[in-house]
Amino acid sequence: MEKRITTPRADVILKWYDLHHREMPWRVSPGDRKAGVRPDTYHVWLSEVMLQQTTVAAVRDYFQKFIAAWPTVGALASAADDDVMAAWAGLGYYARARNLLKCARVVALDLGGRFPDNQAALQQLPGIGPYTAAAVAAIAFDEPAAVVDGNVERVMARVFAVETPMPDAKPLLKKHAAALTPGKRPGDYAQAVMDLGATICTPRNPACTICPWFTSCKGRAADIADALPRKAPKAAKPVRAAIAWAGFDSAGQVLVTRRPPRGLLGGMLALPSSAFSSRSGPPEDAPPVPAEWVAVGEVRHTFTHFHLVMEVRTALIDRADGDFMNADQAAGAMPTLFSKALALAMRM
Ligand code: ADE
Repeated sequence: MEKRITTPRADVILKWYDLHHREMPWRVSPGDRKAGVRPDTYHVWLSEVMLQQTTVAAVRDYFQKFIAAWPTVGALASAADDDVMAAWAGLGYYARARNLLKCARVVALDLGGRFPDNQAALQQLPGIGPYTAAAVAAIAFDEPAAVVDGNVERVMARVFAVETPMPDAKPLLKKHAAALTPGKRPGDYAQAVMDLGATICTPRNPACTICPWFTSCKGRAADIADALPRKAPKAAKPVRAAIAWAGFDSAGQVLVTRRPPRGLLGGMLALPSSAFSSRSGPPEDAPPVPAEWVAVGEVRHTFTHFHLVMEVRTALIDRADGDFMNADQAAGAMPTLFSKALALAMRM
């Protein structure tokens, strides 16, 4: 029997969103939105920057911590860089935190504390790319901008049965997303598609039978939904090696350093380490101070373009040059790679 496919409609998914939207600390519920409550642009912007490359579950606590410490964009703009980098520690992609601060300062100092109210102007700000500009314009200002993240691409690829592999399919998926974006409630619509992608139209085992777009989905009808979007085969990531030195003084404080502002984990508090961006060869064995360094194990971490295996060495060191810090406090302010390394050293 031939399956009839209907045209996907925004109002169908909005109705689903009214009933099944997820609660998020930065989100104004569809009921409140209809009653005239407007989202706080600062909250929308902060959450969208945090959510790039990161899940909602991972972002929740960080968002609450930021809002408690810096309730307005002006407060964030006045924060000390190191405090913001420490609060961001663990979220990853640290250039986002540096740009976050830059952006807050432009908004607070040059724009009188008000974010621009449209996609084009938002995209001029530091750290705001096409995705974030569209998301903030749609969610905070109800501009019918096409908000396209990985979730939305997946949903579009399936609904329209786009079989071109990624990333070549991106322009077509964006076109589909833009064509579907409604003039009414574009902010709720954008969040509805993202919620659909996160809860029903999931990467594996999509729950097609309970999907509001069941009858509109060409991928589902052709029984290929879970294979979309197709991906070009990825090159394997290289494995690189590094050494980190956890030097403790007799009071149990640890020697810390701050990474250079540019580059990987730039501006973050860290343990002294060898370079790990070098492409080949063993890491340079140059401890921060001479001591009886002992290897205590290794930690593994995956970055965008490579896997890193970092050997951890520890020693009792003289209280010489450098900054020493309470080890637990230091672990809390370091990116995950180094907090794992420090935790390993502290267990020995
Ligand atoms: N992922 C990124 N932004 C989101 C949002 N506003 N709602 C749901 N998921 C998201």
